[in-house]
Amino acid sequence: MASCTSWWVLMVLLGVSCEPTKPVDKMCTEVSDNLFLIADRSYSCEGLELTKIPDQLPFTTKVLDFSFNFLYSLHSSSFSKLKDLIYLDLTRCQINWVYEGAFENNSYLETIVLTGNHLLFLGDTAFTGPLSLKHLDLTQTGLTSLTFIPMQDLDNLETLILGNNYIHSLQLPPSFKTRHLKYLDFQMNNIQRISAKDVMPLKQLSNLTLVLKGNHIVHIDPGVFSSISFYNLDFSSCANVSVILKGLQGGQTVALQLGAFVDSDILPISPSALHGIRNVSVDHLTLQYRTFLNLSGETFEWMTKLQTLDLTHTSLFEVPLGLHRMDVLKELNLNENKFVHLCDIRSSVFPTVTHLYIRGNSKELDLGAKCLESLSKLQYLDLSNSQIEDLDCCRKQFAALSALQHVNMSYNRKLLFQSIAFNESANLMVLDLAFTHIVTTNSSQGPFSNLHFLQILNLSYSQIGQNIQHILQGLESLRVLNLKGNNFESGIILNDKLFQQVCNLEVLILSYCKLLAIETKAFSTLRKLQHVDLSHNNLITFNSGAFSNLRNIYLNFANNRIHIIPRDMLTNLSGQSIINLSYNPLECTCSNTGLLTWYKQNIDKIEDSEETVCSEPKSLAGTKLLFVNLFCGYSTAKVILITFVVITVIGVTFILIIRFLQRKYQHI
Ligand SMILES: *[C@@H]1O[C@H](CO)[C@@H](O)[C@H](O)[C@H]1NC(C)=O
Ligand SMILES: *[C@@H]1O[C@H](CO)[C@@H](O)[C@H](O)[C@H]1NC(C)=O
Ligand SMILES: *[C@@H]1O[C@H](CO)[C@@H](O)[C@H](O)[C@H]1NC(C)=O
Ligand SMILES: *[C@@H]1O[C@H](CO)[C@@H](O)[C@H](O)[C@H]1NC(C)=O
Ligand SMILES: *[C@@H]1O[C@H](CO)[C@@H](O)[C@H](O)[C@H]1NC(C)=O
Ligand SMILES: *[C@@H]1O[C@H](CO)[C@@H](O)[C@H](O)[C@H]1NC(C)=O
Ligand SMILES: *[C@@H]1O[C@H](CO)[C@@H](O)[C@H](O)[C@H]1NC(C)=O
Ligand SMILES: *[C@@H]1O[C@H](CO)[C@@H](O)[C@H](O)[C@H]1NC(C)=O
Ligand SMILES: *[C@@H]1O[C@H](CO)[C@@H](O)[C@H](O)[C@H]1NC(C)=O
Ligand SMILES: *[C@@H]1O[C@H](CO)[C@@H](O)[C@H](O)[C@H]1NC(C)=O
Ligand SMILES: *[C@@H]1O[C@H](CO)[C@@H](O)[C@H](O)[C@H]1NC(C)=O
Repeated sequence: MASCTSWWVLMVLLGVSCEPTKPVDKMCTEVSDNLFLIADRSYSCEGLELTKIPDQLPFTTKVLDFSFNFLYSLHSSSFSKLKDLIYLDLTRCQINWVYEGAFENNSYLETIVLTGNHLLFLGDTAFTGPLSLKHLDLTQTGLTSLTFIPMQDLDNLETLILGNNYIHSLQLPPSFKTRHLKYLDFQMNNIQRISAKDVMPLKQLSNLTLVLKGNHIVHIDPGVFSSISFYNLDFSSCANVSVILKGLQGGQTVALQLGAFVDSDILPISPSALHGIRNVSVDHLTLQYRTFLNLSGETFEWMTKLQTLDLTHTSLFEVPLGLHRMDVLKELNLNENKFVHLCDIRSSVFPTVTHLYIRGNSKELDLGAKCLESLSKLQYLDLSNSQIEDLDCCRKQFAALSALQHVNMSYNRKLLFQSIAFNESANLMVLDLAFTHIVTTNSSQGPFSNLHFLQILNLSYSQIGQNIQHILQGLESLRVLNLKGNNFESGIILNDKLFQQVCNLEVLILSYCKLLAIETKAFSTLRKLQHVDLSHNNLITFNSGAFSNLRNIYLNFANNRIHIIPRDMLTNLSGQSIINLSYNPLECTCSNTGLLTWYKQNIDKIEDSEETVCSEPKSLAGTKLLFVNLFCGYSTAKVILITFVVITVIGVTFILIIRFLQRKYQHI
């Protein structure tokens, strides 16, 4: 481009007109992508309508994103100059032909992405050259059979992705010898039948992830997967679960996905269908978005060896009676179901659970009393977004949950705390009550006053109002407190009183609280405070004196009504402190020189200087503070004084000269 420009200049000088006949190549850009940790050798030429690899690209390029261009075919010379290539993305480049030796000089190539190219020809030695090709992505390339892929050079392959094609059989050709394969993806193909012969080559592999998601499988030879140990088998959206479990007899997998997609046309699981699972060794089972026919104890009868079970969105309204105990289950996911009463989950069936999720229940969930009593190991409980309304929470509801550490009850309707709420869960560390209307009635005792280990409390938009005072009682370990969107009495944060109970606070969020003022010592007991968000309020002063430690603090005062900040409010901000003053009606007049001069000297302490602009005077409205240069003249008093001094000096000098001259000429 530079050379064309100089040509152009030369031509103009010679009086010749220069009409460029074709547009100059658009430039590839260097990307610093932490993913590959080889920042300075990564280039992106994505979507530049290129028809060849540009010559300007350095020979040392290691990572090249060449997606969305027009290459049509790959030859042995296509990438021969880029000998150091490790990663090559050729997504949607309209490549139809990959000729012999297309990558023959790219010995270090580890990843080739050919997604979205309709491949008509792959030469026998198409993948010869790379010494250790590990990842090959052939998604949506129009493949109908695996025999189309030359396998002899793929011995080191770890990932082979063949999704969204027209493959009928997962039979790998005999020439496929890799023992390192970890991930084999056949999702969205036309595989209907899996025979023992197809699976033979997989027997030499271990810890494989095999994805058969979205294939319409109607038959698997019984037991074909036995004696293969999988890490993950993904049969999501395969309609008939009985078929799959028959095929899996005797098999071993860490995780098994039998879920579906939202709104997919999928058969309900009959009570007998899941019987097959007793002869499959599996730790983690997913049945998301399935439904159960005639749900009974029998349905889950054979799942007693599971460690995690995911029943998200399975239209469950109860965990059926007569179920055998699941004695090793650690994690149970019951999100997006239809429970009416918490006791309907029958917690005695899975007494060892440590993580329980009942999020997004579609019915109003009644917490009842002691429904979770058997879960003495429960640490993590998610009941968010489940329309819960409870007028005496949560003493009886969470009885015996002594191991509880994390409770999420955000996005519910209303919780009323009449006394100590979690009296048997004194080890609670995280409590999220955001967007749930919280009411407390007993003003002599804080509902959380026994939670001496609580570290994170989210009360945003919880309408706590005046009750905030005793909600914070006893929370001496609290580090993070979110009070966003709550209103305080008369809009003022008063001195000390409120926050002196939470003296270890590090993060305090008070945005959108309609605050008008903060008293001078409001946060002075909070010596560890590091992050304070006071944005989106109605504050008119930037009151840094309210904080006791201004050495490493983040103060967000954005979106308030601050006009002027005196310099002494700023000088104490030191070290790594950062302030955000954007979207305030700041004055850029001589009455605000304190801020204006400090600002320029401390631009490293300013967040969002783009939006920190003047609003007054009108002539400077919208100008970034950084670019304001004010010449603040001397005051009238000073001017009079200086004039007086100057006149006096001149007068005195004049008199002295006269005197001197008089003396000199007296003798004459
Ligand atoms: C590949 O490299 C070899 C030796 O470095 C060289 O002789 C050959 O011409 C190269 N191939 C291409 C297509 O540039
Ligand atoms: C099996 O593979 C998974 C994912 O590919 C990996 O996280 C796990 O560590 C592997 N396990 C063994 C025993 O190699
Ligand atoms: C599902 O598979 C089982 C076992 O192969 C078979 O008996 C049943 O008819 C199938 N169900 C449907 C609806 O195709
Ligand atoms: C489970 O395996 C045992 C032998 O290992 C066999 O007798 C039984 O029929 C198998 N069950 C099913 C449902 O295939
Ligand atoms: C489901 O239950 C109904 C009535 O309870 C019964 O008529 C039907 O046969 C059952 N279906 C199966 C598949 O068990
Ligand atoms: C609680 O759940 C809500 C919504 O389900 C989620 O956004 C939030 O991050 C969760 N809180 C915690 C502390 O995990
Ligand atoms: C907690 O409250 C319940 C119900 O009021 C009571 O039965 C229980 O003894 C209390 N537990 C503790 C540890 O105070
Ligand atoms: C309020 O708290 C006090 C002090 O712990 C307690 O004695 C009293 O019973 C509580 N009142 C109610 C209504 O729970
Ligand atoms: C509540 O605040 C905590 C800590 O900042 C955060 O992890 C959580 O996601 C918040 N909850 C919601 C519902 O936003
Ligand atoms: C700044 O620090 C000094 C000395 O620690 C203190 O006397 C003064 O009050 C502080 N100013 C503000 C505005 O906090
Ligand atoms: C400054 O604070 C405002 C309001 O919270 C926020 O929108 C903006 O993103 C912040 N600036 C930066 C750079 O984070």
